[in-house]
Amino acid sequence: MPPSFQLLDGKFVSSELKKSLSVGVAEFKKLYGRTPSLHVVIVGQDPASQIYVGHKEKAAAQIGIESRVHRLSSTTTQTEVESLVLQLAQESHVDGILVQMPIPKHLNSARINELIPFEKDVDGFSSQALGALCLNNAKAVACTPAGVMELLDFYKIQVQGMDAVVIGRSTIVGKPMALLLLNAGATVTVCHTKTKDLYSHVRNADLVVVAAGKPEFLNVSHFKKGSIVIDVGIHRDSNQKIVGDVKSEGLEKHVSAASPVPGGVGPMTIAMLLKNTLTLAHDRMKV
Ligand code: GUN
Repeated sequence: MPPSFQLLDGKFVSSELKKSLSVGVAEFKKLYGRTPSLHVVIVGQDPASQIYVGHKEKAAAQIGIESRVHRLSSTTTQTEVESLVLQLAQESHVDGILVQMPIPKHLNSARINELIPFEKDVDGFSSQALGALCLNNAKAVACTPAGVMELLDFYKIQVQGMDAVVIGRSTIVGKPMALLLLNAGATVTVCHTKTKDLYSHVRNADLVVVAAGKPEFLNVSHFKKGSIVIDVGIHRDSNQKIVGDVKSEGLEKHVSAASPVPGGVGPMTIAMLLKNTLTLAHDRMKV
């Protein structure tokens, strides 16, 4: 048994972060006489996206950030989405813009994300934002990986020198996660569906960030003793129970730290969106 186990409690850490952000938002309002403003574009009826966007709206209201959700039907054309994004890009009171993913298949998400100006790219999905992250010079970093780093930071877990494995290579999680860990001095391996022997990489890792999108596909037997496990997955199993990409049973007796599902990375993602919005709002007032 490892000497101790640390639950990486994203629910607690995000609520602490939101408390300090609400002070920051109040200061911003006093200083500039206006409210930071977040604009969320949602296209279609994806049920999970509807829930996530609802959480984003509620959290923004909690800390005093103005949020506006632009709901577009699933038959909206590329041109229509692009003109909405271009209009928001020009409006001076808009600090942050995001297009909730996934969007319907007939739309080109990369082209849409490219239209969000760097200064308002609150999700950091554009090529400029990802390029800046690559150069360790980012303004706003994709909220899920940024939330993982904030969670590690809160528990004083220093990744420098660690062998880190990221499972998943998406633009939303895997790629920015790998860059953040690399920038923080970890030795990073990115595993994905074409990886030859994923389990051998996991078995040797000091830190594993699992964003595979497969319910409970790893379990305690896969991890090195004393390692740190961050679970980005969220699913409902056949009994409607919420589960992650990692089966949690017995983890606390083997690894040294792990994030739960629910209550781990999920709440951190929302808190980081608010943090990014406030950061971008401040930066826009400086120029
Ligand atoms: N879909 C799942 N996670 C995210 C996210 O962080 N941002 C956006 N825009 N879409 C998502």
